[in-house]
Amino acid sequence: MTSTAVAHPNIALVKYWGKRDDALILPDTGSLSLTLDVFPTTTSVTVDDALTADEMVFDGAVATGSPAARITTFLDLVRAQAGRSARARVDTRNSVPTGAGLASSASGFAALAVAAADAYGLDLAEKDLSRLARRGSGSACRSIIGGTAIWHAGLDDATSYAEHVSGPDLGMVIAVVDATAKAVSSREAMQRTKSTSPYASGWVHAAEADLLLMQQAFAADDVSTIGAVTESNALRMHAAIMGCRPPIRYLAPQSIALFDAAERLRRTGLEAYATADAGPNVVFVCRAADVDAVRDALIADEAAGMPADRLIAAHAGPGAHLI
Ligand code: PMV
Repeated sequence: MTSTAVAHPNIALVKYWGKRDDALILPDTGSLSLTLDVFPTTTSVTVDDALTADEMVFDGAVATGSPAARITTFLDLVRAQAGRSARARVDTRNSVPTGAGLASSASGFAALAVAAADAYGLDLAEKDLSRLARRGSGSACRSIIGGTAIWHAGLDDATSYAEHVSGPDLGMVIAVVDATAKAVSSREAMQRTKSTSPYASGWVHAAEADLLLMQQAFAADDVSTIGAVTESNALRMHAAIMGCRPPIRYLAPQSIALFDAAERLRRTGLEAYATADAGPNVVFVCRAADVDAVRDALIADEAAGMPADRLIAAHAGPGAHLI
């Protein structure tokens, strides 16, 4: 009766920032990411004919208002596909600091897609689970896939999904600068970028070119180019965001200090590259074999100002799956 799924967050090396279609969540550009092995979300869905409304429990507390409404809207899509109308009970446990730019919506909607599809009796292929997860939160379509994934922008609902992409073994070190929820949601900030930032169209062109470069670098197992494009692509996204009016600035002074730290590490011969999503936290990308060395070097780097307990080592993790 109850279906339970686990999913992990993913961090994009080429970012998704901007929608071509808000209802279907079709992105302006494709993106490429690494699904991690830390901060899982575990979600159970129980379909119950006796319920008159969906019931949502997030980390042990009953959810109401817009977070709950977003789940019901998502379950309506699953119900429409399954041809069923019964309501469901959703119980989700997040070990990601919610809304802090650590991809909690990605792991959340990936786990919900897999659990809800199973609970409603849908037997979906990976591609169709990715398309479904995309409707909850764009980046969630990439957390359906284990390890490195490319989200094809596509032309329509049928062609916009993520799939595995081969390349070198990468790892990450997450620097938790601030684990509280961000002031402006990525959904709102994307819309504001499109409607007010003079750099919005420049970002779209740059992201398209970066994705091609990144795919070439993946095919060539070229970690140096992967890292350089990752760092530059993140800064280009933040530049477009900072161009909003009223402005949005996700990067904090310590975030900038951490981009400097990545450069210092590289000068010592340790290849690490910085990226940041819609929040102040910084994620270092490196070869999988270098994760511990990068973390140790960051702990030792006093100017980075990061205590060991806020530096989390991560490797490639599994795609969303039933347990
Ligand atoms: O899926 P959303 O709406 O949470 O947007 C995610 C946007 C970024 O995390 C900033 C970039 C990305 O590609 O994950």
